Amino acid sequence: MNTIAVIGLLWGDEGKGKIVDLLGEGADIIIRYQGGTNAGHTVYHNGSPLVLHLIPSGIFNKKVICVIGNGCVIDLDSLDKEIKLLEKEGIEVRGRLFISKRAHVTFPFHIFEDKKSEKEKGPKNLGTTSRGIGPTYVDKSARIGVQIVDFLYPDELESKLRVKFDSKRGMAEQYSVASIIDGSLPIAESLKEYFIDAVHYINVKINEGKKVLFEGAQGTLLDIDLGTYPYVTSSNPTVGGICTGTGVPASKIKNVIGVTKAYATRVGKGPFPTEFEEKFQEQFRTDASEFGATTGRPRKCGWFDAFAIKYACMVNGIQSIAVTKLDCLSGIRKIKICVGYRVRNEKQLESFPVHQQLLSEAVPVYEEFDGWSEDIRGVRSEKDLPAAALDYLKALECILNVRVVLVSTGPGREDTIVREELW
Ligand code: IMP
Repeated sequence: MNTIAVIGLLWGDEGKGKIVDLLGEGADIIIRYQGGTNAGHTVYHNGSPLVLHLIPSGIFNKKVICVIGNGCVIDLDSLDKEIKLLEKEGIEVRGRLFISKRAHVTFPFHIFEDKKSEKEKGPKNLGTTSRGIGPTYVDKSARIGVQIVDFLYPDELESKLRVKFDSKRGMAEQYSVASIIDGSLPIAESLKEYFIDAVHYINVKINEGKKVLFEGAQGTLLDIDLGTYPYVTSSNPTVGGICTGTGVPASKIKNVIGVTKAYATRVGKGPFPTEFEEKFQEQFRTDASEFGATTGRPRKCGWFDAFAIKYACMVNGIQSIAVTKLDCLSGIRKIKICVGYRVRNEKQLESFPVHQQLLSEAVPVYEEFDGWSEDIRGVRSEKDLPAAALDYLKALECILNVRVVLVSTGPGREDTIVREELW
């Protein structure tokens, strides 16, 4: 099997960074296929946490090549800072990181627009990460976006930006074509050696038999097409996003691993049916350190939503999942798994709701399981798990009809139970 995709199953923050980091040990190339600096992957390097927003977490592994695919949107300033941070940590980036010339560019005015629209929408805002993601994808779809390749043709870049400025009223006072070019061109010049035709590159490497890992950002329920619209991001974190975001055909995506925590979390706006009661939630959030890696916002926490995850497994064709943060459930007497939704006391819904009003009215139907009191943080072998924890994993497998192939019991790379070799 020479390609694996790692995909979040709910609303992001599933712990994909660690799984990518782990699987990256067996990979030759890791490629990100969507999103931008809205993602935040925390990786523990030399014992301390380091957050990456754009560069795949595989960069910590010396023998791995990292690629940022055409489906991503790139804030050059952030990228430059991330490269410098890694170099300061002694990690060689040059010659190991490549950026698709087809990727679109997030400019300061996109960030400005994102923040402005979040303020204007007031209570109805989406709770975005304010990283300019939506506005960059809007420009891409409106065909007035700037791609990385445009920096190789500065004259055309200027005329492209003029078209954009002409079509955007209200931006002129804040920014000018000249200020945007002055701010971005020198950074792009200094990063030129990273820019490649990534579609050609990745297909050639797969044909040569190289092992390629596709790294998803955000999660299935934040997918612009298949998620909880409008409370979604503006790209496709689901498996289809790999084809459009890297140029690799579906027939070459061999194994798709879904990642979920042993419970559920959500940041930003939008319904969250299995949310814990307030008092329990506050304590749980603190104990489990559930605060956003990108924005620091507190994450809403809740019970494992197997009904939503079944939907995610269906749209991604997932048969194997990685369960992260199992250790955070230690000490809870009874643990619940949501197996369905009921709305207005009617019979259980057959499929995951399309309308957000329906989702907001969904009352979870739970199955209850015994918890365990043992501290399982750092457990590396299945035989060291309490029987109740094993039963919980077994229940997830039965309800979802998938195999739990990896279990994470702590933030460190070694705090993992590997039940199946994946490469
Ligand atoms: P945007 O991607 O910044 O436009 O935000 C749109 C929605 O996606 C908001 O609800 C964000 O909180 C959410 N979101 C975006 N990126 C992430 C992520 O990496 N983890 C969790 N939620 C995210």
